[in-house]
Amino acid sequence: MRVLVISASRLGSTHEIAERIGWRLSTAGLDVQTMDAATAVTGSALDAGDAYVIGSAVYAGHWLPSALHLVREHRHVLAARPVWLFSSGPVGDTATRYPPADPKDVAQVASALHPREHRTFAGALDRERVPEAHLGRVERFVATHLVPEGDYRDWMAIDRWADDIARDLRPTAERYSVSQAGVAEQADAADLNSAARKGV
Ligand SMILES: Cc1cc2nc3c(=O)[nH]c(=O)nc-3n(C[C@H](O)[C@H](O)[C@H](O)COP(=O)(O)O)c2cc1C
Repeated sequence: MRVLVISASRLGSTHEIAERIGWRLSTAGLDVQTMDAATAVTGSALDAGDAYVIGSAVYAGHWLPSALHLVREHRHVLAARPVWLFSSGPVGDTATRYPPADPKDVAQVASALHPREHRTFAGALDRERVPEAHLGRVERFVATHLVPEGDYRDWMAIDRWADDIARDLRPTAERYSVSQAGVAEQADAADLNSAARKGV
C-alpha cells in the first residue's frame, strides 16, 4: 500500500505540510512517497500510488496551476483510488478568527476526483523566502506588503488528519498484506507437496 503525497507550493510551507503528513503516515506503517505536483504531472509516477493525498497552497482564492494541471491531466488515474485533498492558505486574523473557506477550485476538483475528504489548513508566510520564490510582480508586492507574516500552521490538526487517513487506509493495507501472505502460504504449500511427491 503506497501513498503518494503530492503538493503544490510557492514559498515552501505547503510542501512542509505534505512532508509532515507523509512522515505521519509512514509512522503508521504505510509506504509513502512525497512529490511536487509539477513532477507528479509528468511521467508515470502516479502509477506507483495505491492512494493519494493532494494539496495546494491558496493564492488569490485559487489552488496553484500545477495542482490543477495534475488533476486535469490525471483525473482518471487519481479518481480510481482513494484520494484526500488539502488546501493551505489562511494566515493572520483569517487563520485564527474565522472558519476556513474552501478555495474556489475545490468544488470542481472534488467533482473530478471524488475525494474522501477536503481539509483547509492555516498557512504560513516567511518573507525571507519571497526573493527566491516564483512569484509574479503583483504576488511579490502582496507577499511583501499585504499578507501578514507568520506561521499559523496547526501541526496537531495536521497530524490528526494524517492519522485519520492512516486509520481509513489500514484495513485496505491489512487486506492487501493478508492476501499477499495467503499467496505466499499457497506457494509454500505447493513447494511442500511437490517436495513430498519427490520424497524429499
Ligand atoms: C500573493 C499571495 C496571495 C495569497 N492569497 C491567499 C488567498 O487568497 N487565500 C488564502 O487563504 N491565503 C492566501 N495567501 C496565503 C498563502 O496561501 C499562505 O501563505 C500559504 O501558506 C503559502 O503557501 P506556500 O508557502 O506553500 O506557497 C496568499 C499569499 C500570498 C503571498
